[in-house]
Amino acid sequence: MLTLRSFVVVSVIVSVNCQNCAKSNGIRQSPVNINTLNLIYDWAPSLKWSFGYALTPESVYINNTGSSFSLTVKHKWPLEISSGVLDVPYKFDQLHFHWGDHNGIGSEHTIDGFTYPLEMHVVHSQNTKNDADQIVVVAYFFKVSSIPNLGLQSLLDKMLEAGPKKHEIFEIKPFALSQLLPEKFSYLTYKGSLTTPPYTESVTWIISTLELPISESQLDVFRETSKMDQGLKNNFRCGQDLNFRDVRLILEPVQYSHSSAHMLLQLFLFVAVVTALGPDCIQNPGAFQSPIDIDTKTALIKKIGKLEWSTGYNRLPENATLISNGHTVSLEMVSRYPMEIKFPLFPVKYKFIQLHFHWGNKFDVGSEHTMNNKSYPMEMHVVHTQTENLLYPKYIVLGYFLSLTRKGTTGLEEIIPAVVPAATTINAPIPVKRFKLLKFLGSHVFPYYTYQGSLTTTPYDESVRWIVAKNPLSITRKQLDVFYKAAQIEIDMLNNYRCTQDPKV
Ligand SMILES: *[C@@H]1O[C@H](CO)[C@@H](O)[C@H](O)[C@H]1NC(C)=O
Ligand SMILES: *[C@@H]1O[C@H](CO)[C@@H](O)[C@H](O)[C@H]1NC(C)=O
Ligand SMILES: *[C@@H]1O[C@H](CO)[C@@H](O)[C@H](O)[C@H]1NC(C)=O
Repeated sequence: MLTLRSFVVVSVIVSVNCQNCAKSNGIRQSPVNINTLNLIYDWAPSLKWSFGYALTPESVYINNTGSSFSLTVKHKWPLEISSGVLDVPYKFDQLHFHWGDHNGIGSEHTIDGFTYPLEMHVVHSQNTKNDADQIVVVAYFFKVSSIPNLGLQSLLDKMLEAGPKKHEIFEIKPFALSQLLPEKFSYLTYKGSLTTPPYTESVTWIISTLELPISESQLDVFRETSKMDQGLKNNFRCGQDLNFRDVRLILEPVQYSHSSAHMLLQLFLFVAVVTALGPDCIQNPGAFQSPIDIDTKTALIKKIGKLEWSTGYNRLPENATLISNGHTVSLEMVSRYPMEIKFPLFPVKYKFIQLHFHWGNKFDVGSEHTMNNKSYPMEMHVVHTQTENLLYPKYIVLGYFLSLTRKGTTGLEEIIPAVVPAATTINAPIPVKRFKLLKFLGSHVFPYYTYQGSLTTTPYDESVRWIVAKNPLSITRKQLDVFYKAAQIEIDMLNNYRCTQDPKV
């Protein structure tokens, strides 16, 4: 799979002669250069665009504001964005553009030093929250294409006429804004400022990773207007210091349809995003789906008895390897001794297959099961199977939560060095220093919750006896970071947990 790293683009070195290159004294100024190696991967609900965007407004106007063309609308219906990383709705104010004299300059934001020829800012605002959160700008980059962008056409048709008439308003042929603004995309977000005076530090930036097409002759229209008004020439601000601000990459959680998957082919550096999703949160209609929330107050207390562990768990295996299937990393062990468990309720023995992990992108998500609605940052599954007697479940999976502590569970330190190598070479076994599995699991006698459930990945077979340990194992912050890092390398591992399934009555 392609990773962000392979998309570092060669930047075009140019001399920039915009007048807007003074560094500001502010602390959260925009635009910035975004280094994709430093992104924080994250997810959020989809950004919601009110239906007004899809309807043709009564009127659409453009105005040469002296530094760009701004487009405003008169609309019967509200134009609002909400959800995503926003906690209140923001109303559409105007959209405008930044461009340069040639294809090597123009955009305000740059990605790994790469500049686009045109950047569009769709400005939204609200007045219920404090000033620092007053404005949201959705930014789109344009990339030269042999196909013209039809969404821009009615604007371009009037631009040469409006160019020389600063501050005058021109009505253009109305069109639904959705023709110009894709609604679904993964995006970069950070806190910044306006890029024109007074550079107020009140902007949440949402920068689409979906590039929009524009043809050379359409770009020429923008450049033609620069000859009419110096304010429209190279009207971009130079990059400002990031100053330790976080830039988050929010992955669009919705599964892509064929048509939008096609649009995604135009992603600039985020081809990897195509398959990167948040957790699997689809509710399955099956009656015995896993994971579940374990409500310790309503759990029935029963004396079931101890699990029996065969000798192999307490011996050093012949070898141990870690392997990634692209979704998680699994530890496999080959032992000369049998590795089997016996669960008191079933008369058959279950053979150890592998153990693997589920994790999220921050400490408060990651486990599949939850306990009293609390998630742990990680959950480990020790998978066993039997095929001897079809009356009994095919699998027994031991589930262990991992909680953050100062000292990691014994054995984890042997697995950790192999995690990133495994993520880097999918399906190749990476050797792990041998250790006794039972030592790792802590103890052979432990309190547990048990229920009949399913696999938590496709095909979600309802043939699993779950045994979820009451007490979590431990992982350190540093060890957990290694799993986060692996998810940056193999993005399919990001948030590789399934959400709890609603109980069916
Ligand atoms: C055009 O934009 C400028 C700058 O924002 C503003 O001062 C002017 O009032 C606008 N013109 C009209 C007719 O709205
Ligand atoms: C592990 O042991 C098995 C059986 O001895 C062997 O086939 C396999 O190649 C070994 N794997 C590694 C990575 O050493
Ligand atoms: C967990 O959340 C569900 C749904 O919000 C709620 O019905 C349930 O009471 C909660 N359980 C606990 C133990 O808080």
